[in-house]
Amino acid sequence: MSHPTAVFSRNVSLRSFNTFGLPARAAWFIPIKASAQLIALIATLEWRYLQHFVLGGGSNVILTGDFDGLVLHVRIPGRELLAEEGDAWIVRAGAGENWHDFVRWTLDNGWLGLENLSLIPGTVGAAPVQNIGAYGLEIADRFQELEAVDLDSGETVIFDQAACQFGYRDSVFKREAAGRYLISSVTFRLPKCWQPEIRYADLAGELERREIAKPTARQISDAVMAIRMCKLPDPERLGNAGSFFKNPVVNAATFARLAAHYPQLPHYPQANGTVKLAAAWLIECCGWKGRDFGLVGVYEKQALVLVNRGGARGEDVLHLAQAIQKSVWEAFEVELELEPVLL
Ligand code: EPU
Repeated sequence: MSHPTAVFSRNVSLRSFNTFGLPARAAWFIPIKASAQLIALIATLEWRYLQHFVLGGGSNVILTGDFDGLVLHVRIPGRELLAEEGDAWIVRAGAGENWHDFVRWTLDNGWLGLENLSLIPGTVGAAPVQNIGAYGLEIADRFQELEAVDLDSGETVIFDQAACQFGYRDSVFKREAAGRYLISSVTFRLPKCWQPEIRYADLAGELERREIAKPTARQISDAVMAIRMCKLPDPERLGNAGSFFKNPVVNAATFARLAAHYPQLPHYPQANGTVKLAAAWLIECCGWKGRDFGLVGVYEKQALVLVNRGGARGEDVLHLAQAIQKSVWEAFEVELELEPVLL
């Protein structure tokens, strides 16, 4: 009988599996195409002695070096309408589906509500991990439940909204449950009584430019795509991982101190009295926007995005990130937290 690890590929380059285009190799690698395949794999005990990492579209991960473990590459397909309820369409997608294709497919079918999240890179399965959000909406607003496989026990577990503990670019899968589960599918609740969410200034401005007062969901999707294409680099052309830092949330006293010095500081008051600041503004203020730093740099149209100028390695990215964090701390005494996951 062949050894169970025979089903894994060895020494696989991950360069084409991460949107930053960083070179790193995985000692072991396996595509996961169905949860049943994964469950059968977990039953063969040996693989669990390897450390493992669940990889989706690779759009939110920084590969800091070779990985001496097993990469589980999620490729579980499937999109379906599960149910029609009085007030909502219940739609499910396999974790390996491309996020943007899924969003457009829901719109094509008249199931509205995900349009603000158009063109976010990555897969459906990765979306809840960091509670992807853009233009006034986040996945938590449309989430019903997800199915995940416990990588220790091989059991299938359902996570509802509360179990996911969604926060700003955050969920239980980035904290207590990190590394423990492989999300196999996600189910969304899309409201029949759809209302456009167009309060985000950039989106409102783009719709105004297009002279659209009452946009359809598709028009919102098109406008969001146009804004993203204009402000964010296409990973196919310029390696990047989207926003590199979270927008920092500070207490009222810190905000008051900063606002006294910088009245123009963009800020977004939160329900609990804290204030979210625009990290891009802080970084730009420190002179980083458009600056190169060896083989990496800060994107010229969005200071929150670090880019691969060609041939960068994980350590180059980390050096730049640390230099930016240091500048922002020295100028504002505000800490910037990394947004992507490091491997
Ligand atoms: N700004 C600058 N300089 C810049 C860019 C922006 O000063 O170079 C200031 C402007 O005042 C602007 C404010 O920052 O009004 C906010 O900028 P923007 O609307 O571009 O959004 P962001 O806060 O930088 C967040 C998300 C993005 C998301 C956009 C739109 C995070 C970490 N990032 O960026 O998400 O697309 O809002 O909703 O919350 C991602 O997570 O990868 C991502 C791209």
